[in-house]
Amino acid sequence: MTKAAGLPAHLAHPFSPAGRIDPYPAYEWLRAHDPVHRDPMTGMWLVTGHADCTALLKDPAFSAASGQRERSRDDELPVSMLTTDGVDHTRLRAPGALLLGPAALASVAGAIAADADALLDRAVKRGVPLDAVEELGAPLATAVLARLFGLPEEQRETLSALARAASVNLDPLAPPHIARLGRAAMGELTRFLDAHTDRVDPHCPLGRLAADTRLTRQEMLGVLGLAVVGGWQPLAEAVGNALYWLLPRPGVRAALRAAGQDAAETAVDELLRLEAPIPFTARVTLRDAELPGGRIPAGQRVLAVLAAANRDPAVFADPGSLVWDRRPNPHLAFGGGPHFCLAARLVKQSGAVLLGRIVHRFPEAVISGPDPRWAPSLIPRRLTALPVDLGAEVGDAGVRDAGVRNLGVRGTAGLEDARA
Ligand code: HEM
Repeated sequence: MTKAAGLPAHLAHPFSPAGRIDPYPAYEWLRAHDPVHRDPMTGMWLVTGHADCTALLKDPAFSAASGQRERSRDDELPVSMLTTDGVDHTRLRAPGALLLGPAALASVAGAIAADADALLDRAVKRGVPLDAVEELGAPLATAVLARLFGLPEEQRETLSALARAASVNLDPLAPPHIARLGRAAMGELTRFLDAHTDRVDPHCPLGRLAADTRLTRQEMLGVLGLAVVGGWQPLAEAVGNALYWLLPRPGVRAALRAAGQDAAETAVDELLRLEAPIPFTARVTLRDAELPGGRIPAGQRVLAVLAAANRDPAVFADPGSLVWDRRPNPHLAFGGGPHFCLAARLVKQSGAVLLGRIVHRFPEAVISGPDPRWAPSLIPRRLTALPVDLGAEVGDAGVRDAGVRNLGVRGTAGLEDARA
């Protein structure tokens, strides 16, 4: 294959204002013509093929720790799983499972299902079209973290405000003054979580993590900070992104209604594949590295473009379409290799319970109002708003029971497959 010098002029660069709204044509060209591409505009390497991204995420020549430092332009990042590699990373990740692993999920599953119903009950009571991003996604993400942290109801708003303020750290192109505010919010969030940990219920997932002696207090707070900044906004936005694809397709919703709660989880995978909330992740090469699609020298900044890999036609038939029951679905929305999202199961089950409730309780739900617009942020991929009219509600008692029953633990086999 001949190497291309750059994107053809008619395609918007993925980081340009137009490309941030619709990066897919550029991704498609890069994947087809130069899947391991040195981008002249940023000096970074953009890796867009599925095979290349999968290999990169597993290869220790690509450092996540250095990638995070470069991405955030911050040498003072708190220690966490994403700011470490190798044995340091393994040491932090093992106790992190007390917060986000199968047993933690089992202990909060029923409460999260009840939270999802309460959200929808509130929306019904208000009786007006709602913004699914702000009124479903954000409170679901807050509820999930509040349940993991054993946070009382009256502190959810504080958590949500701090999570929102600290989340500007996700966007690598946030202007310096915004990034400074984000770092200040991160400090406040850490102090809030530190104080809360002193009086946490020892039986909730955070209580069990806090009682574990493998991490220092600072390391534990670093892991909590990562869960909030890496989890709150991506989960919140994933709900809007999913409904954007799901609501205009009544045939898919009818199929989901007929197929039950497990099917909702299969659909969540496909919805994350199509609109990955974290479209790329950063690495730095520690030495010369060889990928199927090309070679990258040592000391280079590299982006694994997960959103491009997720639409690679070599792996996904009809990659731009929603095939809700696609199986297998080896998407990379949760990353891969040693840093594979520790909360993937939690995210899939929480997302599935909310989407399952919506398709069962509100079969007529539609997107209302003007065409939704994509925000110009790079991370997360998100809509500025998603006005939704839920329509008439149908009887739901059976749905609630089934949802709680099915929001259980199914082991980690699927996750290990994705990491292998
Ligand atoms: C739709 C929502 C989410 C998406 C798309 C997502 C995606 C990702 C991705 C792509 C990575 C890998 C980053 C890398 O390799 O550089 C990751 C890692 C991680 N995620 Fe998530 N995530 C989501 C929600 C969450 C939530 C809710 C939490 C916690 C409550 C969480 C906790 C973590 C942690 C701790 C890691 C680091 C794992 C490690 O380095 O070993 N994520 N996530």
